[in-house]
Amino acid sequence: MANTLLSLEQIYHRYSISRDIFNDITLNIGEGDFYCVTGSSGAGKSTFLKLLSSSLKPTSGNISFNGSNFNDIAQNKLYHIKRQIGFVFQDFRLLPHLTTYENVALPLKVQNKKEKNYKMDVVELLNWVNLEHCTHSYPNYLSGGEQQRAAIARAVITSPKLILADEPTGNVDNENTKKILSLFNEMNKLGTTVIIATHDENVLSQSRATIIEIENNKIKIKDK
Ligand SMILES: Nc1ncnc2c1ncn2[C@@H]1O[C@H](COP(=O)(O)OP(=O)(O)OP(=O)(O)O)[C@@H](O)[C@H]1O
Ligand SMILES: [Mg+2]
Repeated sequence: MANTLLSLEQIYHRYSISRDIFNDITLNIGEGDFYCVTGSSGAGKSTFLKLLSSSLKPTSGNISFNGSNFNDIAQNKLYHIKRQIGFVFQDFRLLPHLTTYENVALPLKVQNKKEKNYKMDVVELLNWVNLEHCTHSYPNYLSGGEQQRAAIARAVITSPKLILADEPTGNVDNENTKKILSLFNEMNKLGTTVIIATHDENVLSQSRATIIEIENNKIKIKDK
């Protein structure tokens, strides 16, 4: 049995002005697990990923990362945990004043890594996601699919323990969907826990993932 990475205990969530989104969710996610979270638009996929990354606090219930409860964790420890999570946002959130290269390298720069030690890794990853032609361009000059691939590269460049990706193939073509999936599959084989929110049938059928379906405020684990 793998060690538990994330543990959700009796999670209830509703936004202040909305209906219930989650009603009593309990789930353990093990180190090295791979899940696809699916469900109709508005079901709560993005909300689920935000809860797992501690960027959103549930209305009630506990979420722990490696045994540390988000509810009573000190800010400096939370920062340490967040550094172990690579998040691909549904709306990308690239910084407009930084080039593609600078956006992807940013998590390493923030960790005070020296550029000479990571430059080749960033260049290689940009090649892998077919963005070499965008290296020195700013996000506003990139297509939606190019921005999405830059956001994915930024999320994986630090080899995080956990990858949370929100609709990571929503804007890319079939060829790039395959590449992105093989990146996540390979990282998962090396032990990274991967959780992808997606509607994309290609992702659901081509990934190694177990499927979590969100429906009527509950989750259902679907065996393939
Ligand atoms: N900040 C917020 N305040 C109030 N309601 C919100 C907020 N964010 C999301 N919601 C509502 O919560 C529900 C779940 O939203 P969420 O974004 O998690 O859905 P989703 O499954 O990711 O949908 P999609 O497939 O369209 O991305 C929706 O009804 C949405 O309107
Ligand atoms: Mg969403």
